[in-house]
Amino acid sequence: PENVGIRGIEVYYPRLAVRQDQLEKSDAASTGKYTIGLGQNQMAFFADQEDVVSIALTVTQKLIESYQISKESIGFLAVGTETLIDKSKSVKSELMRLFDENHDIEGVDVKNACYGGTQAVFHAIDWVTANWATEGRFSIAVLADIAVYEEGPARCTGGAGAVAVLIGPNAPIVFEKGLRGIYMDATWDFYKPIGGGKPSEYPVVNGQNSLKIYMKALDECYTAYKRKAKRLKGEEISLQSFDAAMFHSPFTKMVQKAIGRLHYWDVLNGFTQGNDELKKLMPITDLDEREVVSSLQKSSFKEFNSLTSPFLEMNRNCGNMYTPSLFVQLVTWLAKCASMSSSQSPARILMYAYGSGCASAMFSVLVNNSENAELLLMKKICAEALERLNNRTVLTPERYREVMKMREELLHSTESYTPKALSQPDLQPFPGAFILTSISKSYQRFYARI
Ligand code: ACO
Repeated sequence: PENVGIRGIEVYYPRLAVRQDQLEKSDAASTGKYTIGLGQNQMAFFADQEDVVSIALTVTQKLIESYQISKESIGFLAVGTETLIDKSKSVKSELMRLFDENHDIEGVDVKNACYGGTQAVFHAIDWVTANWATEGRFSIAVLADIAVYEEGPARCTGGAGAVAVLIGPNAPIVFEKGLRGIYMDATWDFYKPIGGGKPSEYPVVNGQNSLKIYMKALDECYTAYKRKAKRLKGEEISLQSFDAAMFHSPFTKMVQKAIGRLHYWDVLNGFTQGNDELKKLMPITDLDEREVVSSLQKSSFKEFNSLTSPFLEMNRNCGNMYTPSLFVQLVTWLAKCASMSSSQSPARILMYAYGSGCASAMFSVLVNNSENAELLLMKKICAEALERLNNRTVLTPERYREVMKMREELLHSTESYTPKALSQPDLQPFPGAFILTSISKSYQRFYARI
């Protein structure tokens, strides 16, 4: 099959949010730490009646409805998530409820921190590529996570959300074949161990170390991506090769640093000049040094503002969604480019996925920015999703903390459980969402659509 890629995309995020400036005050953090220092406006969160299965059900059902997907036309479905509620049963298994009589659907869950979703997308692409001739069916990848941290410096970098993509041939958003620069290694920067007494949704995190490994992986992926582009296409890659550049976003300041880092390699390789301040620092031996990072940020300001910053709106206002946090930038790009005039040549977008532990990939997509009907529908749906950011329920930091406690109580309960948020008017999700209605004594979870 030719031009395998995205033929439909949907996104779902919490209706509930807390403002980061209010959180700074309430946490007694210095003014500007979360908003300016980390680059975040708001953090989205789910109450206890939504879990990873319910949000995956919601986003998949939305995808099916928005793009009128026939249920028999799906041959593969994978879920990328690190929000596990079961060590054996997959989230995917629960999504089978949405496909009526079609039980002939390959795929299960894929896990590695924030990276699993991208791997699920790769699996979905590869399945169509390998099986289209014999199956003639499409695939779906679902990326869903709830990012919550215990009280402390990492808590403000939480968030939540879900993205679902329909993959097929002759797509308006095509993944460039062979251009996947991969970097994987054994690290302990962020993990969710089994053990330690009570079950917990919170990771063990070595924050500063995770930032360093994110950057190391970025360097390695860029090198691998460039090597493959040279070998396969004879092409010299730099940031100038792209119309947009998207990165896994734990918080948006990290993304600004990431583009600064790619800018450094471009300066070093003579693709761009860099400003005078940076020139004075060259040659650089320690790229993680504070003065260097700050100088790179300044020198790459133009690239950040044109290629990346406009597409971080959901990230700034929802926080780290883990697996979907890269793909919501594509959603935002589609939403914002809805008003752009159509152009003859496709837009080329660079994407970088990172998951602690660690697994990472750099790849690229080509968007046929024309009057293609499928693309227009995607743009409309993405624009509506971006607009919904303004229709959320913004709660106080105190209420947010109560909700985190509710989620802990649900997890620690040894009896059958009914989520407390079900009866609390200020905690209701967006209409049409699936919710968790109860958990039985034997820990089976039950869902309904509201
Ligand atoms: N005004 C403006 N900026 C401020 C202020 C202020 N009042 N106070 C602090 N800052 C800046 C700091 O200078 C720093 O920016 P810089 O690094 O560019 O200099 C930034 O705000 C954060 O301050 P730190 O002191 O570094 O913050 P801390 O160490 O308390 O926590 C961290 C930050 C490590 C990101 C923490 O929130 C965390 O552990 N998060 C989870 C891990 C994570 O997200 N890792 C990313 C990759 S892995 C993944 O995606 C999960």
